[in-house]
Formats: sequence, structure tokens, C-alpha cells
Amino acid sequence: MKDGFGNIVTTHSDKSVEAIDRFSNSLIGYGTDFAIAFEASDADPDCAVLAALATQLGLFLETPDRGQIITKFMDRAIQAAPRATEREQLFVEAMKSHRDCDFARAIACHQRLAEDYPEDLLSAKIGQTLYFNLGDDEGMLWLADQVIDTHRDRAYAHGMRAFGLEQMSRLEEAEEDGRRATEMQRHEPWAHHAVAHVMITQGRLEDGIRWMRDLSGEWDDCNSFMYTHNWWHLALFHLEKEEFEEALALYDNHIWGRDRSYSQDQINAISMLWRLELAGVDVGDRWQDVAKHVAARSFVNDQPFLDMHYIFALVRGGRRDILDDLLEGMRLMGKTGPGLTREAWSQVAVPAGNAFIAYADGDFETATDLLGPARTHMQKIGGSHAQRDLFEQVWIHSLLKAGDFDQAMPLIQGRLEFREPVRLDQTLFEKAKMAQAATA
Ligand SMILES: [Fe+2]
Repeated sequence: MKDGFGNIVTTHSDKSVEAIDRFSNSLIGYGTDFAIAFEASDADPDCAVLAALATQLGLFLETPDRGQIITKFMDRAIQAAPRATEREQLFVEAMKSHRDCDFARAIACHQRLAEDYPEDLLSAKIGQTLYFNLGDDEGMLWLADQVIDTHRDRAYAHGMRAFGLEQMSRLEEAEEDGRRATEMQRHEPWAHHAVAHVMITQGRLEDGIRWMRDLSGEWDDCNSFMYTHNWWHLALFHLEKEEFEEALALYDNHIWGRDRSYSQDQINAISMLWRLELAGVDVGDRWQDVAKHVAARSFVNDQPFLDMHYIFALVRGGRRDILDDLLEGMRLMGKTGPGLTREAWSQVAVPAGNAFIAYADGDFETATDLLGPARTHMQKIGGSHAQRDLFEQVWIHSLLKAGDFDQAMPLIQGRLEFREPVRLDQTLFEKAKMAQAATA
């Protein structure tokens, strides 16, 4: 049988194909219709690709039963694979490699799928996420480029390509593809997101607010990551315009509260509170609730990018009791973690995490000593340029507070010249000049 993208699926069940389509559209379109993969795989255990999708769902989970779920469906997929097509076997192998944290092998499978089976848009999307988490922008765009010709009439393919282009700093093409995707299908939240990235990178705050506000009605049925992340992007425009009340209102009404236990919701909340504080805004007691939920996590040390956020939230929210365990796990990942991410842990996440603790404690000498070397490898932790900019801002604030104006001032100047100057950077520059004058 064939799925909605035209891929051959080894099954006799209409329901299995329907489940694959619903799952695929939810994953690429950031919906919520995922649980169908579990039920459908139980009803059709011989369908390898469906069991692989159920495994993928297990990999998204952050609950204590995650391991059992992944093992159940992965074993099933491996058993069924010999009777499946080459494409399905590659897909199963990609999932197995991901499960085993062999990210290089997983990516190689997604590359091969993109080249030989460009109909498989879901594989390209999953591969893009792996690349994203490794900070490999080129890989993200490469995957989208392989499959775009086969999917010219699909908004999702243009949305995927738009974000790859944006991360590769091909901003005009990115905006074009993102707008095209949105025109083809207004309900394409990833395309909205890609264009928001272009606009923040260019300092087009008014454009960004208009663009995201106008489309925000499309996000209500998105999963919690996409919902909170697109609202986070809208709040970011307001924050950089120094409309702090509005940013805080968006935080309270949209960014924090969808799924407080989920990593991505927590990251969006932490990133917004942290940036507001760097801008001098009093965020009240908001850290406490975030720290409470971060402290309750049983699933940590998954990605360096995430743990770096958790550390600061725990410190600011008064939950230092969790810090030692978290840091110990991070150090361990730096020694024994997956080959492709080991340096991101040891060279960036561990020193930066300690730098953030020092920063919160007002020890800016230690913060700069630790953050300086980590900063040069920051791309390795994954995430987007806009997300990692938080850490660049922490670096600049650390330098200023340590009195190192020689290093700080050119960086602020660079921010003003890199894009249409935004109010937040202008204020930082003015404050820094005053502080420098006061020490002269
Ligand atoms: Fe983003």
C-alpha cells in the first residue's frame, strides 16, 4: 500500500496507512495526533514502519516508562523489517541508530533516504531535527534541498527548507520559501516560525510582530513545543522593542503553562525570563514555578542545550539542591556520551553551566573565565542562532559586569551593525558607555 506521500508501506491494513499519515502530518505539522501510532502498531505488529513511528513517539516522551515503550516498539520494528521494503528498512535502521544514540549512523540513514526515496518527507523532517540538535545547519538545508523537487506542491516541504535556509543565513530566500508555504497553507506553523527567524535576525521588529500576531490564531491546536515556541518568538520581538509588559503578558498567557513538565515548554519559559532579567526587568516570582517543574524532571542530560537552561532556572528559582546531580550527569556525558555530542557537553555545557551559576552568584570573573572558551564552540550544542543568542547576551553582560569593556563594547557595536538596530541593543550600548565612562 502507499502512504499519503506516495511511499510504499508493507501492510494490508488501511488503518495502518491512515495511522502513518496522521502521525506524519502531526510530526511535520506540529500537531498532537501521535498516540494513534501506539494503537495502530499493536493492531498491526508486522508493519515495520509503523512500529518505527511508535518508537519515534517513545523517543519524544520524557516520562519514566519511556525506556519500556521504546524497547517494545523498536524490537517489533526490527523483527518486522526483513519483510519490509528497502526504504522501510532504512527508516527502521535510522530509528534504531537514534535509539542507540549513534547519531552519525542515524543521519547517514536519513541522508540515504532523502537521496534514494525523496517521497519520504517524514524521514527528511526527522533527519533535520537530528541535525538541528547537533548544530549542523548545512545538513538541515541539505536534507530539505534533496526532497523539495518531489514535494514542490507541499507547504511543509517549503517550510522545512525555509528554516534550513534561515539557519544558513540565506535570509531572503528563507523568507520567500516561508511566505510561499504560508500562502499555500495558512496552517503551517513551522513556516511562520522560519519567517519570524528571518525578521528577528534582520531586526525587523514591527514586521515580526505583525507577521506573528496575524498568524497566531493558527497555533491553538499545535503541540506544546510549537505553540509555546511561536509565542516565544512573538514575545521576543516585543522584548527587543523594550515592550516588556507585553512580553511578560505573552509569557503568562501563552509561553508558560501549556505543558509545564515538557522540556521545550520549560526552555521557552527559561529563555524568556532570562532575557527579560538581562534587560533589567523584574520578573517577580516567576522563576520559582519554572524551577519547581525543572527540579521535578526525571529526564535530563538529553541535550547540552537543554541542561544549560535548566541550570540557570534551578539557581534563580532557589532549587540548588538539584544542581550537583544535574552537573554530575553533564560531566559524565562529556566523558561517555554519544561521540557526536561529547565535546558539546565537555567543552560547552559543563563550563557554561558553571559560568551561569557564577553569574547568578555575582562572580563575574569566574563567569567570564569559564564562558570565554565555551563560547567559541557554542554552535555544537544545537538550537537555533536566535536561541543561542541568549548565551551571547550572557557573555556580553558578564564582560560588562567584570569591567572588561575592551571586549564587550565591540560586541555590542557589532550587534548594532549586524542588523537594523533594535532598542534593546541601543540601550545596552548606552548603559555600557556610561559604565565605561564611570570607570575611566
Ligand atoms: Fe525558533
